Amino acid sequence: PFPLYEQVRSSAPVFHMPDTEMWMLFDYEGVKRALYDHEAFSSVVTPPTGKAPDWLVFSDPPRHTKLRGIIMRAFTPKSIASLEPRVRELSRELLEPQLERGEMDLAADYSSPLPAMVIAEMLGIPLVDRPRFLRWGEVIMNLSHTVSGGEEAQRAVQEHASVKEEMRAYLADVLAERRKAPKDDLLTRLVEAEVDGEHLTLEELLGFFQLLLAAGTETTTNLINNAILCLLEHPDQLARLRAEPTLLPSAIEEVLRFRSPGQMMFRETRRDIELHGEVIPAGKFVLAVIGSANRDPLKFHDADRFDITRDPNPHIAFGHGIHFCLGAALSRLEARVALEDLLARLKGLELASTEPWEPRKALHVHGPSRLPIRFAPS
Ligand code: HEM
Repeated sequence: PFPLYEQVRSSAPVFHMPDTEMWMLFDYEGVKRALYDHEAFSSVVTPPTGKAPDWLVFSDPPRHTKLRGIIMRAFTPKSIASLEPRVRELSRELLEPQLERGEMDLAADYSSPLPAMVIAEMLGIPLVDRPRFLRWGEVIMNLSHTVSGGEEAQRAVQEHASVKEEMRAYLADVLAERRKAPKDDLLTRLVEAEVDGEHLTLEELLGFFQLLLAAGTETTTNLINNAILCLLEHPDQLARLRAEPTLLPSAIEEVLRFRSPGQMMFRETRRDIELHGEVIPAGKFVLAVIGSANRDPLKFHDADRFDITRDPNPHIAFGHGIHFCLGAALSRLEARVALEDLLARLKGLELASTEPWEPRKALHVHGPSRLPIRFAPS
């Protein structure tokens, strides 16, 4: 999508989709403003197929502040840092059986299960339930097609409706168990939580569950895949990283900028808003294209160059302002552990296919649906 972004960004950074109620923002300044200026750009949005669900990420203050408060403590840098040994263990468990094969689909065999296993453990989902957990995550992410309003959107909505019943029944059972026997996990935190003196309803709990499930899986999967893709596509940068492993955190930030796992977020204008000489009227649906903002040459020197030493790197891949990604520390941790393991254990790592890769199904997500790789068997 990047050459296309470049074209629109330089000619019409505030772009009105002809014959629609939809506007798109492509430049850094505009996208960042839409993300943080929550008084002008509301997160309570109505895409073409109807109102977005009432989840934390689609809420405004004061409700947003209360909902975020419920799970914030589980995601502090300190709580997340304590998970490192377990993430390392899970990473090894996934890699071990692949080592003697000398090839794998990184997406299916590693980058998808790892984040799903981590968020499932944080929530307190038993091991046996994890395969359907992964499938649910995908179905929820595919809901992003609702912004286009076409046939794909109808399909995504129908698929979600059927899976939602399955999730509701599942959740009702586990939550009942937690009420009887609390544990040290996110599901217990959610059942015990109160907003304005009231416990959350099953519908609200289901909202949290779906948000964490979707946000905790697809996004980090793509960060890991995109990192391997970027490094194998830029051998000079990979060599530099191998020579100087302390560059890893900075390399991950550059992947977040260069191939942002979440390419766009949604907002709705609360009033008429003037941006770059254009006026977006009140009540319009706005797509803030993060993936384009992160390549804006007005903000980033040599923006189309992948440079693992880039400093400063003020990318907005995790958003900006009150909705700033709660899982940022967690996905940075998972990506660091994953790359340390993959680069150390897969000798002679290379892409197993030179074909252009198929993008993932969800509309706002950027990354390969499969990533076949080869390495020396060990
Ligand atoms: C919010 C990106 C991983 C949980 C966001 C937002 C972005 C984002 C851009 C802001 C949404 C907005 O402004 O409307 C990413 C990326 C990830 C990632 C690129 C991985 C590379 C995760 C993980 C979790 C998570 C692992 C949790 C386990 C959340 C939650 C919100 C959020 C709960 C909503 C926060 C709020 O509305 O206050 N994420 N995310 N994310 N993210 Fe992430």
